[in-house]
Amino acid sequence: MTHTDDTVLLDGGVAMPRLGFGVSESRDAHAAVAEALAQGYRSIDTAAVYENETGVGAALAGSGLPRSELFVTTKVWNVDGDRPDALGAARRSLDRLGLDHVDLLLVHWPNDDLGHCLSTWEAMEQLLAEGRTRAVGVSNFRPSHLRRLRSLGGRLPALNQVELHPHHQQPELRAVHAALGIVTGAWSPLGRGAVLGEPVLARIADRHGVTPAQVVLRWHLQQGTVAVPKSDDAGRIAANRDLAGFTLDGADLDAVAALHRTDGRGRIGPVPDRVDRIAS
Ligand SMILES: NC(=O)c1ccc[n+]([C@@H]2O[C@H](COP(=O)([O-])OP(=O)(O)OC[C@H]3O[C@@H](n4cnc5c(N)ncnc54)[C@H](OP(=O)(O)O)[C@@H]3O)[C@@H](O)[C@H]2O)c1
Repeated sequence: MTHTDDTVLLDGGVAMPRLGFGVSESRDAHAAVAEALAQGYRSIDTAAVYENETGVGAALAGSGLPRSELFVTTKVWNVDGDRPDALGAARRSLDRLGLDHVDLLLVHWPNDDLGHCLSTWEAMEQLLAEGRTRAVGVSNFRPSHLRRLRSLGGRLPALNQVELHPHHQQPELRAVHAALGIVTGAWSPLGRGAVLGEPVLARIADRHGVTPAQVVLRWHLQQGTVAVPKSDDAGRIAANRDLAGFTLDGADLDAVAALHRTDGRGRIGPVPDRVDRIAS
């Protein structure tokens, strides 16, 4: 896997911006995405379950930017579907987005039923072959889920988007990704704001003349992860991509590494293995 500060190459040679813009729980996704695009973001991360693909699509269309400059990710909710359901779900997402293809399509959560897992993944491969997406990946897959996909013998996901921030750094999963050539995507890259009050981040930020959020996002870039911070605020949307003017040194990186909570209590979202039960 190769990457620069700006992009990472997904399986199949698809270049993905390493800093994107998330819209889960956006107050107004149309306005937020329009602002993000105006500020220079080119990668937008949405999902069917966010129920804002129509607003995202309107902002993409309204931006006047050529499709080739945009990188759009959406996710199919696979918890209660099989192959036809996954195909239909992806096509409905494309209709809402007003696009004939997305750049990356993710299975939003793993499913522990092997047959179900296989049929959903076959649907993803079919959508890739049909040109409805340029790359396919997964989200919230643990090593056991990735091993299961590998045992099926087909294509591996290009990317696995998981909860990842200084309190929950996912070292074991990242090692599995590295071994399998899977790009690590970070959701809640700012820990939904919960990590930003850490005094050590304030000290690092002061030294570099930036904010704690910028330190955390710079840390993601230097770790090689793809981060998709969300904001509804124009000032924070701008600041979150203003990361070029400083670099974290070894001591900074060690200090951020020390924020990881090894007891798992840094996690803020659901445990992937349990999401079926949460959703049902
Ligand atoms: N695949 C999955 O299962 C999954 C799950 C969750 C999220 N995601 C994706 O990941 C994206 C980001 O995750 P997230 O929205 O949960 O969390 P996040 O990006 O870590 O944090 C967003 C929160 O931080 C605040 N914030 C943003 N920039 C800030 C800054 N510079 N300073 C202080 N506060 C700041 C935002 O408030 P304001 O809006 O007021 O700025 C918001 O409350 C989502 O939008 C979604 O696209 C994926």
